[in-house]
Amino acid sequence: MDTFTPAQSTNRQALCRLDEIPDGGATAVDARLLDGEESLILLRQGDEVRGYLNICPHAGRRLDYAPGKFLLKGDTLTCCVHGATFNQADGLCIGGPCRGEHLRTVAVQVEAGVVKLAQ
Ligand code: FES
Repeated sequence: MDTFTPAQSTNRQALCRLDEIPDGGATAVDARLLDGEESLILLRQGDEVRGYLNICPHAGRRLDYAPGKFLLKGDTLTCCVHGATFNQADGLCIGGPCRGEHLRTVAVQVEAGVVKLAQ
């Protein structure tokens, strides 16, 4: 599973406030990564946030059906384009056209109520 590295290792990029993500929900934010500007999926559980590239391993499309709106059910996230279903916890595709592949993890952390790129 690939993990993307932020563009600037000494300046952690703020992405959004923790309270802008519904608890148990998700949002999408733009971030500057080594490859340029990318959309990220941020998934929140309490004070924990996970980050993935908002790029489906099936056909490279965004997973949200409207900006920042994702199909979430239980512990899974489903791509709106062709229905690939991923574990929220590790990004593994457990059903659909790219079963066995992963969303690409982006390391994030929460500092003083702000979600930032890690490293
Ligand atoms: S692009 Fe996501 S399932 Fe096809």
